[in-house]
Amino acid sequence: MVGIRALKKIWMDGQLVDWGEAKVHVLTHALHYGYSIFEGIRAHDTPRGPAIFRLKEHIDRFMNSAKVYRMKLPFSAEEIERACVDLVRANGVPAVYLRPIGFSGYGEMGLDPTKSPVQVAVAAWEWGAYLGAAGVETGVRATVSSWVRMDSRSLPPQAKCGANYANSALAKMEATIGGYDEAILLNSSGMVAEGPGENIFRVKNGVVSTPPASSGILRGITRDTVIQFLAPEHVPFQRTDFTREDLFTADELFYTGTAAGITPIREVDGRAIGTGKYPIVQRLQRRYEDAIHGRDPAYAAWLTYVT
Ligand SMILES: Cc1ncc(COP(=O)(O)O)c(C=O)c1O
Repeated sequence: MVGIRALKKIWMDGQLVDWGEAKVHVLTHALHYGYSIFEGIRAHDTPRGPAIFRLKEHIDRFMNSAKVYRMKLPFSAEEIERACVDLVRANGVPAVYLRPIGFSGYGEMGLDPTKSPVQVAVAAWEWGAYLGAAGVETGVRATVSSWVRMDSRSLPPQAKCGANYANSALAKMEATIGGYDEAILLNSSGMVAEGPGENIFRVKNGVVSTPPASSGILRGITRDTVIQFLAPEHVPFQRTDFTREDLFTADELFYTGTAAGITPIREVDGRAIGTGKYPIVQRLQRRYEDAIHGRDPAYAAWLTYVT
């Protein structure tokens, strides 16, 4: 069963190819050893046509992931940005999720990826809110995972590498099999880190907090977006570690991510969070929707229009 509706084109190694032609060999190195780096970006409909949200920041993070992994990408940041724009235009669908990926291709096997050629592709598909449209409204049910977020001494979480997502998948499967919508991973010090594909924020007594980068998280671009929203919303903010118990006693909790957007958490391991109302989350959601859909001139610089 394929859940993804095929669009027209995928950008692969410098060219737009037909969706069904974007194929790799079964001995593609990354398929065996997880040596890929990727991004998740969204384009949204705006009054001026489709616009990609914070494209530059996503491609910067992509280039940094490649650097951490010594992956020599055969394309520049500008070329990959242009590939994203060309792809949205070629597919003719305004609201898409974009997936640039760099990976060790078909050439050699064994654990030194530098012996295989590096391939780069960008795919796009239609993807609703990752944790469900209902979750964005009414909140999702989360569980603290028995799986610990991998440590930067083994896999650097700030590089968005395919291998990291085996850790995420273990937590995600455990959560869904247990009847929850999503997981929350602690780090190896027992402090809250993030979700399998989302950052996490807590609201307590009017103050918003999120774990610092040193807690072993991906530095989310939606996380940064939300942090930048807090000053104009006059909401105090701190980057600080917090414990599992701090989750239970929060007034509001929410996930942020390109895929998930801003999604409130209504329950953690059977404990209802706050009063079940999300006044701060809702203010942030409104500002986010206005920013991504080109309705707030304050955030115009974050949009790359596809004309
Ligand atoms: C592990 C992890 N944390 C956080 C995020 C959120 O990052 P962003 O807001 O840049 O999508 C993601 C998604 O890319 C992720 O995979």
